[in-house]
Amino acid sequence: MRSPETTSWQPASWQGKPALQQPLYDDPLALEQVVAELSRLPPIVVSWEIEALRERLAAAQRGQAFLLQGGDCAETFADCESDSIAKKLKILLQMSLVLLQGLKRPIIRVGRMAGQYAKPRSADSESRDGVTLPSFRGDLVNRPEFTAEARRADPQLLLRGYERAALTLNFVRALVDGGFADLHHPEYWDLGFVKHAPLKDAYQRIVQSIGDALDFFEGISGTAVHEATLVDFYASHEGLHLLYEQAQTRFIPRQNRWYNLSTHLPWIGMRTARLDGAHLEYFRGISNPIGVKVSAGMDGAWLQGVIATLNPQNIPGRLTLIHRFGAKDIASALPKAIEAVRQSGQTVLWVCDPMHGNTETTTGGLKTRRFENILKELDLAFTIHAEMGSHLGGVHIELTGDDVTECTGGARGLTDADLARAYRSTVDPRLNHEQALELAMLIAERSQNRRMMRA
Ligand code: PEP
Ligand code: CO
Repeated sequence: MRSPETTSWQPASWQGKPALQQPLYDDPLALEQVVAELSRLPPIVVSWEIEALRERLAAAQRGQAFLLQGGDCAETFADCESDSIAKKLKILLQMSLVLLQGLKRPIIRVGRMAGQYAKPRSADSESRDGVTLPSFRGDLVNRPEFTAEARRADPQLLLRGYERAALTLNFVRALVDGGFADLHHPEYWDLGFVKHAPLKDAYQRIVQSIGDALDFFEGISGTAVHEATLVDFYASHEGLHLLYEQAQTRFIPRQNRWYNLSTHLPWIGMRTARLDGAHLEYFRGISNPIGVKVSAGMDGAWLQGVIATLNPQNIPGRLTLIHRFGAKDIASALPKAIEAVRQSGQTVLWVCDPMHGNTETTTGGLKTRRFENILKELDLAFTIHAEMGSHLGGVHIELTGDDVTECTGGARGLTDADLARAYRSTVDPRLNHEQALELAMLIAERSQNRRMMRA
C-alpha cells in the first residue's frame, strides 16, 4: 500500500475517533512518558519480513498456501519462560507438518504470540460482594487480582509487555534458525507427553513419510532441500491498545509507507471493528497485512465498508477476514458474508476461527468449548466456501502446548467433570497439545477425502 490516501493520516490520527476498549489511566503524564519511550525503542519486527508475509498471504488467497494462526487467547507475563514458549512453538510446527501433508500446500505459520497481552472485555468493571473495580484487561494494562491497586491501569506494563514480546520473539527466532524446525531432526518433532497411542502412531507415520520424501528427493538431486526443511514463523496479536500500537508505528522511507513494527500481522477484534471507530482509522494507515474478525452481527454493508476502508486498492494479501460465527450460525452467516465480499469486487483471504463462536459455560461456571463444535464449524467452513466457489485459506485456533483441560472432547474424551483438573486460562479455553494435534489431523484427513472425492 502506498502512503494512505489522505495525507492527513498519522499514527495518532485515531485519537480523533471513538476508541472502544481503551483503559483509563489516572496519570496522563506517566502514560505520555511511557509512550514516548516506546516510540524510541527499536522495533520487534522489520518491514521486509512484513512484506514477505503479505506475499505469502497473497499466495494463500490464490489457494496456493494455507494459514495456520494459533496461540493463547491471552499471553501472560508469567508464561514468558522458555519451556512454555518452546512448547507452543512445537505444537504449531507439528500441526503445520500434519496440515502440509494433508493439504499439499505450504503452510504459513503465525503465532498469536509476542504481544498478545491486551484483551477486550464485555464490561468495563467487575463487581464482587458489593465492591466494583475496573475489569482485568490483560497483562499489558493491569493485574488480575481483585484489588484496587492490581486493577489500576499501570503505564509501566506497556513497557514490560513490549520487552516480553521482544524476548519471546527473540527466543522463537533462535529456535527456528537453530534447527528446532528442521525436518532432518525428527527428534525435535517428537510428541513429548502425548499418550494417546493412535494419535501418536498416526503422527509418527506423517513425520516419517515427510522425512522419507526429503531423503528421496535429496538422494536423487544431490542437494539439500533447505526451503522445505527450514520454516519461517511470524507473530500476530490483536491490535487493541492503540497507544501501544501507535508507539511502534514507523515511517519507513525506503518503502515510503507506515508500518506497525510491533508485530507482523495485527488484527482488529470483533468488538472494535465499527466503521467510524478509532481502530479502523489506525489500521487503514499501516501497511502490514491485517486481519479483521467477522461475527454474525456484521452485516453485508458493514463488511463492505470495512473492506473499502482497509483495502481500497485491493492489494493482494492485505486483508484477512477471520470469521467466527459458531457451529450453530455458520451455515446462515457465511454465505451472506461471502456474497457481500464478492459484490465488493475485492479479494480477501478467508480464515475460520472455530473457537470464539463456540464458547459456553458449564453448570460449574467454567468457560469451555466442545471439540465436536469446533470441528463441526471447520467442516462447514470448508464445505460452504467450496460450494460457493470460494475457498477457506486458513484456520485461527486458541491453543497451548501444555496439558491443560479447558476444552471438552477430543480423542481422550475430556468431560465437563475433567475441566477442573488443569484449567489454567484466565480468559478463553484453549485446546491442549493433544486436542490441537488431533484437530490438525482431522482437517488434513478430511481434506484428503474431499480431494479423493473430486478426483
Ligand atoms: C480473541 O481472538 O481472543 C477474541 C477476543 O476474539 P473476538 O474479537 O473474535 O471475540
Ligand atoms: Co479468545
